[in-house]
Amino acid sequence: MQIFIDSADITEIKKWLDYGVIDGVTTNPSIMLKDGALDMEACAREIAILVGDRPVSVEVTTNDLDEMLEQARSIAQWAPNIAIKIPMITQDGVPCLGVMAALEQEGIKVNATAAMSFSQVVLAAKAGVTYASIFAGRVADEGHDAPKVIGMSVDWLERWQYKTRVIVGSIRGVIDIQNAACVGAHIITIPPQFLTRMMDHKYTRETVRGFISDAEKALAEIERRKLKSR
Ligand code: E4P
Repeated sequence: MQIFIDSADITEIKKWLDYGVIDGVTTNPSIMLKDGALDMEACAREIAILVGDRPVSVEVTTNDLDEMLEQARSIAQWAPNIAIKIPMITQDGVPCLGVMAALEQEGIKVNATAAMSFSQVVLAAKAGVTYASIFAGRVADEGHDAPKVIGMSVDWLERWQYKTRVIVGSIRGVIDIQNAACVGAHIITIPPQFLTRMMDHKYTRETVRGFISDAEKALAEIERRKLKSR
């Protein structure tokens, strides 16, 4: 399983890269805005250089299918490791499958994004996408079973040997990460705050505190014995 970082925060991306746990980066226009990356191109280029050959997902920002194609082709020129996020459908419900198929045929990797259902993943895979992003938190917001949608999608893709990899996004807590990992998600894209939470544990802190304290006591005892023997 791969872990991507769901962020446009250069400091956080660099930190988690240095920790050796990051296989790629995902962004979207909302993440860019939240992380202060108003110049999408400059930010995407900086991230793409920072992560080397790891993939960076950058999203198109239009509902018009022709414009989407043009934007995608232009964004793909920014760096060789950029994958283009194309929504499953526009805000008015028009399928973006033709855009996905055309881009993949041109050799541009597509991340079919904002998937909320198994059916959407199936059609995006048929269109030839490299990634399909299932938004676990948003699926759960609607009362649906996100781990089930993820598990069904991964099983189906593997049974029929599609190249499409499922990215699980919209993470709202560490339990979403655990659930996605246990049903076989190929990739989970995780916001930095949840990467931190995955690693921290109050009992681990207490345990380490005890070891450090006992090591200090042992050193103090050595010093006490040295002084006594003089
Ligand atoms: C990742 O690819 C998605 O864009 C992101 O995880 C969406 O998260 P949200 O539902 O919290 O906005």
